[in-house]
Amino acid sequence: MSMPEPVRIGLLGRGTVGGAFAELVAERADAVEAATGRRPEIAGVLTREDGDFAAILERSDVIVELIGGTEPARSYVLEALRGGRPVVTANKQLLAQHGEELFDAAREAGVQLRFEAAVAGVIPIVRVIQESFGVTRIAKVFGIVNGTTNFILTEMAASGASYEEALARAQELGYAEADPTDDVNGADAAAKMAILARLAFHTPVTMDGVSYEGIEQVQPDDLAYAKELGLSLKLLGVAERREKGISVRVFPCFLYGGHPLAPVEGPFNAVMVEAPEITEVTMSGPGAGGVQTASAVLGDTVSILSGDAPVHETREQLPIVTDVASSFYLHLAVADRPGVLAQIAQVLGDKEVSVKSVVQRGAGDDTRLVMVIHECLESRFAEAIEAIEGLDVLRAPPRAIRVIEEEFV
Ligand SMILES: NC(=O)c1ccc[n+]([C@@H]2O[C@H](COP(=O)([O-])OP(=O)(O)OC[C@H]3O[C@@H](n4cnc5c(N)ncnc54)[C@H](OP(=O)(O)O)[C@@H]3O)[C@@H](O)[C@H]2O)c1
Repeated sequence: MSMPEPVRIGLLGRGTVGGAFAELVAERADAVEAATGRRPEIAGVLTREDGDFAAILERSDVIVELIGGTEPARSYVLEALRGGRPVVTANKQLLAQHGEELFDAAREAGVQLRFEAAVAGVIPIVRVIQESFGVTRIAKVFGIVNGTTNFILTEMAASGASYEEALARAQELGYAEADPTDDVNGADAAAKMAILARLAFHTPVTMDGVSYEGIEQVQPDDLAYAKELGLSLKLLGVAERREKGISVRVFPCFLYGGHPLAPVEGPFNAVMVEAPEITEVTMSGPGAGGVQTASAVLGDTVSILSGDAPVHETREQLPIVTDVASSFYLHLAVADRPGVLAQIAQVLGDKEVSVKSVVQRGAGDDTRLVMVIHECLESRFAEAIEAIEGLDVLRAPPRAIRVIEEEFV
């Protein structure tokens, strides 16, 4: 009886994820063989110091790209696909910037390109959107897709720590990298949302189509006031269908207690999908980590061995809409004198911006008004803020953070 051929995996990168992946392949080889009929083996490893890409490609059946960044990862992945090798990658930047080129190459070569680990860590959201909801008219995909910022915000809310202190703690515990820029400024979450929007709406979306803000400006007292209002702060990625297209955004946002994303704390991620026929589905899990990410990569490898993959063709060309309606938390440091609230209410009223709730705190030089503003067009809210900035009662620039008003029971 002849033994089935092993599946030879060419591993590009052996860092946090690549190293864990190599170990997992050895550990789970029996299980992979039982599931697919073929035993996996690492046929070659490329690092900065070792290995030759062409030689590894030559002796591999599947390429696993865990280098990160756009080059040389893009060239290697393209060459592998064009050479008829299926590819698994965890590289969100690569897909968010060059997705169409890679999907086209995969389609033309008739091989699979899988990337579950590129978005929301272990949560199998790519598979669910592509396969379970492949023909569902998805209205909205949103969630917490960056574990570093969720850890920082959780820490600030729990201990009253400043942003800088919470970031230092995240670095100490290995939840933030030495250079955390892309995490804290929202770029990492934006890349993931570009990928999810592309899959959910079947229209090309790149990083350029995503507007994003980070959490660097969040102050401890925003979190303290929010607690009084029953709100918790998350960095949200939101991709949704709009009347005239889609909007894809990343921004810090307050949620009312009872919202399915409100209890997601620490380095965890969570993603929600909404559509009329499915109502809503929420999945949560670890957002990163070597072995966790490696397990998602191995899952993709097994899927490749098991059969056909979705074709990644776009079906529509939807425009990106940027002026959308949002609710806001508004923090104003004001002079402590009669009529200030009325003056501000007047300005907001003139711009047809209405207030849902307001609390006044402190006295004298430390008087603050903290408001929740009902949903209005963001451009209109920006005009109202500009008008408020012109008032002489203001003691510091206004601080505004979006709020999801929906209250769940
Ligand atoms: N870490 C996580 O928790 C996580 C979670 C989700 C997704 N990801 C994604 O997974 C991928 C890998 O991340 P990681 O954390 O494992 O990165 P990492 O620890 O920095 O490892 C990168 C590996 O790639 C190799 N490499 C870098 N540049 C190279 C080049 N020009 N040519 C050949 N090899 C090169 C490095 O070689 P040397 O060993 O010689 O330095 C190293 O082995 C990234 O796309 C990342 O976004 C990571």
